[in-house]
Amino acid sequence: MRESIDAYEREALAELETCGDAAALETWRIAHLGTKGRLRGLMPLVKDAPPAERPLFGQRLNALKERLESAFAARRDAVGSRRPRPRGLDLTEPGLDLAPGRRHVLTATIDRIVEVFGRMGFEVADGPEIEDEWHNFTALNIPPGHPARDPNDNFFLGGQAAGRLLLRTQTSTVQIRAMEARRPPLRVVAVGRVYRPDDHDATHYSMFHQVEGLAVDRDLSMADLKGTLLGFARAFFGPEAEVRMRPSFFPFTEPSAEVDMRMPVKGTWQWVEIGGCGMVDPAVFEAVGVNPDEWRGFAFGLGIERVTMRRHGLGDIRRLFENDARFLRQF
Ligand code: DAH
Repeated sequence: MRESIDAYEREALAELETCGDAAALETWRIAHLGTKGRLRGLMPLVKDAPPAERPLFGQRLNALKERLESAFAARRDAVGSRRPRPRGLDLTEPGLDLAPGRRHVLTATIDRIVEVFGRMGFEVADGPEIEDEWHNFTALNIPPGHPARDPNDNFFLGGQAAGRLLLRTQTSTVQIRAMEARRPPLRVVAVGRVYRPDDHDATHYSMFHQVEGLAVDRDLSMADLKGTLLGFARAFFGPEAEVRMRPSFFPFTEPSAEVDMRMPVKGTWQWVEIGGCGMVDPAVFEAVGVNPDEWRGFAFGLGIERVTMRRHGLGDIRRLFENDARFLRQF
């Protein structure tokens, strides 16, 4: 028994001599002096020894422990002193590899959209994501009982009382807020998040982004609307871009249309449906106290994820919100 302890001591000390840096020393310390280390593993042997030998055996193990600990401390000092700590800043240290940050692909798209509309004379307007029913529905000519108000299609906050709040389902709310805040003529764009209780899959997410535009002046027509959208498409996608409108229905515009834009999709030009538009419905003007006999307006709402995804050939909307740096670095 005594011999095997002697052998272990020699082996541990020899191994310690080969430790040349802090990491190796720590590995050694854990292997030998750690709570699950070899020295601890020897302790039960004391109990198993014949009673007469136990005290001696115990002393021997204590001595071994002290020996290993002091050898370890000495070795640590020797290794540590080999490279003196630099005083102040050590300019020879290699730097950290900090990958540069970048804007999220959606943020970059939003910034460009705002910039292009800005050049066309649109100011940025804003509104809250927690809205009331007046701004999300009523003032937008969406009457009580309209299917768009179905609790299953909205994130209502709070009870059933009149005037309850919800997460806005569309940025069209900002049309109302802009006209409540200012008298026409006006030209505004609003970008922001909207919320709908959709199950998440490759093309649906319960939160996404829209850009809303509103222009009010004395003699605006569908031609101005189309010209504005075309101007945007060409500035954003290039001079070959085209705009197409298909008749549709929205409560807050009359007439209403779906907007498609011909844009580059992974190198080829394709038609992509990107939102809705129309001439502001007189009922909307009346709701905000603007005289519909005096003023005309056009409005549009475009889906930002849709444009971004088609443009970059992305198949799954969820990737945009996972914040996986490997995905985001591509843009
Ligand atoms: N708010 C509509 C939506 O979320 C989009 C829209 C359609 C906005 C027509 C408009 C518009 O301003 O004129 O589906």
